[in-house]
Amino acid sequence: MRTFHIKLKGMAERSVIVCRKNVLSKQLKEDLSWLKAGGALIFTDSNVFALYRRQIEALTLPVFVMPAGEENKSEQTLFSLLKAMAENGLRRCSTLIAIGGGVVGDIGGLAASLYMRGISCIQIPTTLLAQVDSSVGGKTAIDFCGVKNLIGTFHQPMYVYADPTFFKTLPQREIRCGLGEIVKHAALNAPLFDRLMQNQDRLFDMELLAELVPENIRIKAEIVQKDPNETGLRRCLNIGHTTGHAIELTEKNLSHGECVLLGLYYESRLAQRHLDTDEAYLRELGTLIRTILACKTEDIDVERAAHLALFDKKNTQENRVVLAVPTKRGEFSFLELRYSDYERELKEIMETL
Ligand code: NAD
Ligand code: GLY
Repeated sequence: MRTFHIKLKGMAERSVIVCRKNVLSKQLKEDLSWLKAGGALIFTDSNVFALYRRQIEALTLPVFVMPAGEENKSEQTLFSLLKAMAENGLRRCSTLIAIGGGVVGDIGGLAASLYMRGISCIQIPTTLLAQVDSSVGGKTAIDFCGVKNLIGTFHQPMYVYADPTFFKTLPQREIRCGLGEIVKHAALNAPLFDRLMQNQDRLFDMELLAELVPENIRIKAEIVQKDPNETGLRRCLNIGHTTGHAIELTEKNLSHGECVLLGLYYESRLAQRHLDTDEAYLRELGTLIRTILACKTEDIDVERAAHLALFDKKNTQENRVVLAVPTKRGEFSFLELRYSDYERELKEIMETL
């Protein structure tokens, strides 16, 4: 068992992150008496509920199940959940328990931050992506008006319980998606990058993944502690995401993690064109990404994706796109391009791959 305490700069809030096995049957059972005393609701999705129904129902807490999938990261799901929270009599002292991947975690966190102006939330991330990234740091969101994560809040979970036994039921593609965010962290952290390069032939190995979870949580927690509300440093965690999010909205058959990998790949090429970069390192990063990725890219609608990048939250000026791009080992830079240049260059880069 490993425990991390996140004390957030300038804020009273704190998050405790616990990495341990059998969270549903052990950790939550241990917490049950105080959860019941304050009132609690479990929020999960249809896939996770189907797989873990017995353990979830054994907790004898009310459960709200959303249909699985990014397409349901919507205002309809958010308001249905808020309604379930009200109907189950949740109070200020109550807790929302989000059990699932990043979609459940993001919506659950948002609902917890809105209900009665904020109640406690426990995140139980069940995907690799959610354990290494989305459950840590308090970003919550729904997609809105065709834009990823347009509505959201910062609301730190009281606890995050990361349990590698959930990976046993996770399809290989979801492992690949989680590796997308791990590679993102590796682009910011040279020792992690070296570790991934040394283990390229066993990146899907469960033992390695169980070790990578606490390492990634530590990397992310250190950044979040210094800049919880993303006023500066935390923007590095958006590396590759401007293009990644834009592709994700355009290509509904690609997942978040796959799009992050594609975004990192394309943006490293943009970095090579415009900034002082370490070419050999970026080639290695490209090789690592290609080892993990297994999706087709030739059908991506580049024009539409480039247009959607205009809505990225990092942009500050009209018709300009801001990218956080990898440059050298463990280093990144911001690159701001005119929209017309970004669109043209993205097309050129995609045609050459
Ligand atoms: P997801 O929540 O859609 O989960 C992926 C799939 O795996 C779903 O079908 C889900 O039902 C299923 N699943 C979950 N756990 C499972 C398990 N143990 N066994 C079998 N199937 C399981 O997607 P995700 O990849 O976990 O998260 C992506 C989302 O996270 C995106 O919406 C993205 O924007 C968000 N995100 C948020 C942050 C943040 O900081 N808040 C960071 C990164 C990503
Ligand atoms: N996933 C990016 C962040 O948490 O800041």
